[in-house]
Amino acid sequence: MDRALCPVLVGREREVSLLEDALLAAHRGSGQVVVIAGEAGVGKTRLAMELQERARRAGTAVMVGTTSEAEVALPYLPFIEAIGNYLAGADLDRIKLQLGPATCRQLGQLLPPFELQTTLIDPGEPAQAKMRLYEAILAFLRLAAERTGLLLVLEDLHWADPSTRELLEYIARRVRRRSRILLLATYRNDELNRRHPLRPLIQGWQRSGIAQIVDLQPLPPGGVARMVSAIFDNAPVESELGDFLHDRSEGNPFVLEELLKAALDRGDIFLTAGGWDRKAIHQLRLPPTVKQAILLRVERMSEEQADILRAAAVLGRSFDYRMLVGVSQRPEAAVLNALRAFMQDQLMDEELSGRYRFRHALTREAIHDDLIAPERERLHACAADWLRSQLFPDKHDLAYHLMAAGHWDEAVPVAIEAARAAEADKAYADTAMLYERIVEHMPDPCERARVLSELGKAHFFAGETRRG
Ligand SMILES: Nc1ncnc2c1ncn2[C@@H]1O[C@H](COP(=O)(O)OP(=O)(O)OP(=O)(O)O)[C@@H](O)[C@H]1O
Ligand SMILES: [Mg+2]
Repeated sequence: MDRALCPVLVGREREVSLLEDALLAAHRGSGQVVVIAGEAGVGKTRLAMELQERARRAGTAVMVGTTSEAEVALPYLPFIEAIGNYLAGADLDRIKLQLGPATCRQLGQLLPPFELQTTLIDPGEPAQAKMRLYEAILAFLRLAAERTGLLLVLEDLHWADPSTRELLEYIARRVRRRSRILLLATYRNDELNRRHPLRPLIQGWQRSGIAQIVDLQPLPPGGVARMVSAIFDNAPVESELGDFLHDRSEGNPFVLEELLKAALDRGDIFLTAGGWDRKAIHQLRLPPTVKQAILLRVERMSEEQADILRAAAVLGRSFDYRMLVGVSQRPEAAVLNALRAFMQDQLMDEELSGRYRFRHALTREAIHDDLIAPERERLHACAADWLRSQLFPDKHDLAYHLMAAGHWDEAVPVAIEAARAAEADKAYADTAMLYERIVEHMPDPCERARVLSELGKAHFFAGETRRG
C-alpha cells in the first residue's frame, strides 16, 4: 500500500444529519443555505462529498465549483465551473428554450455555451446590467432545481474574488424564497482574519438567519483510532496508539493521513504475513509538521521528479498536463511517469482529461513555499511564456504569472486587458483589484493617471452595485 487515505467517512453523524435535513427541506421547496467552516484539512470537502453522493443517489441535480487560490483569478470562477460542468451533461437546447433568449444572452457573457448568434444589446447602466446578469444566473439555477432539486456546492470561499462574493451574497439571499436549491458553501475559518472580506458576509447571514453554519471540529481520539483502523484494513488499534496519533495530529484528518503516510514510507508501520504491524511508539519517528512530512517525500524523489513537482506547484492547485510539460521543460514520458508516481504517493489526483490536481491545497502550499524566490520567479516566467505560446491564453492566468515573475513591463498591459475583460463581465471589484496591483509599477505618469482614473471608476461601480 502506497497511500494512507481513509476509505470511509468517520464520525460526523450530527453534521450529516443536519445536511440531509437541509437537502430534504430544499427538495420540498424551502431553499437552504448551509456553510461548513473549519480549519484546513479538517474534513470540509469530505463532508460535502458525502452529501453529494447522497444527493446523487436521491436523483438531485448536483453542481460543484471550487475557488482558485491564485491572487488573480477569473471572476465568478466557482459559479462558472459549477454551471459549466453541469451543462456538459445537460440538454442545452431544452434549457435555452425554457430560459428564453434574453436570459440566455445574459448568461452568454459568462458561459460560452449560451452565446447566441445575436449582437449584444446596449449593456446600459453598469449596476443594472449586473443585476440582470445575476438574475439570469438565479433563473438558471432555479430551472435546474425545478424538477429534481439542486445541491450547489461552492468550495473554499475564503479565496473567493470580490465578484464571486457579491454574486454569492445575491444568490444566498434569494435561494430561501421558493426555490428547491441547497447552497452548500465551505471555507477555512483559520484563513479568516479580522479584516477578511468574507467575514461580514457570513456574519450577516448568521444574524439574519439566512444560513446555518456547521463549525467542523477536529476528530476526537476515538475518531482518529477509527480512521487509522479503516486505513489499515480494519486492523485493531490499541488506545495507546490512537491517543498518540490523536495527540500528534490534533485530530486533523489531513495531518493524520500525512503522518501515517510518512510512517509507511519509513517502514515504521509495515505489513507482515499476519497483518499490519508497527514499531514501538517511542520508535515512531513522525515528522513534527505536515509541511515536513511532505517535504521529506520530495527529498526522497529523483531530482527530475522533484523538479516536475515544483513546476506543478507554481501552476496552481489544478493544472493542465501540457502546461506542466512545457513549464518543467522535461520530456513527456518523464512527466507522465512523475505524475503516475505523484498519484501513487497520495500527492495528486487525476481530474477531467488532461488535468491533474494536488490532492490537497496544503500539499501545494508546502512545496510552493519551499521554493527560493529566484526559482519561483523563473518558473512563473516559464508559465507565462507557455501561456503566450497558446492561441487564446487566459488573460487572468497570464497576468498572474507575469506579476508573480516580477516582469512588470509585460504584466502591466496584460493586467489592463484582464481588468477590461473583468469590467465587461461586470466584475468591477476584480477590475479595481487588478488596477491596484499594477499602478505602482507604471513609470509613465500619464498612463498611471489613466489607470488611476479607471481604478476610481471601477471602485465607484463596485460600490454602486453593492448598494444597489
Ligand atoms: N470524517 C472523515 N473520515 C475519514 N476521512 C476524512 C474525514 N474527514 C476528512 N478525511 C480525509 O482527510 C483528508 C482531508 O480532508 P478534506 O480534504 O475534506 O479537508 P478540508 O477541510 O476540505 O481541507 P481544506 O481546507 O484544505 O480544503 C482527505 O483525504 C479526507 O478524505
Ligand atoms: Mg477542502
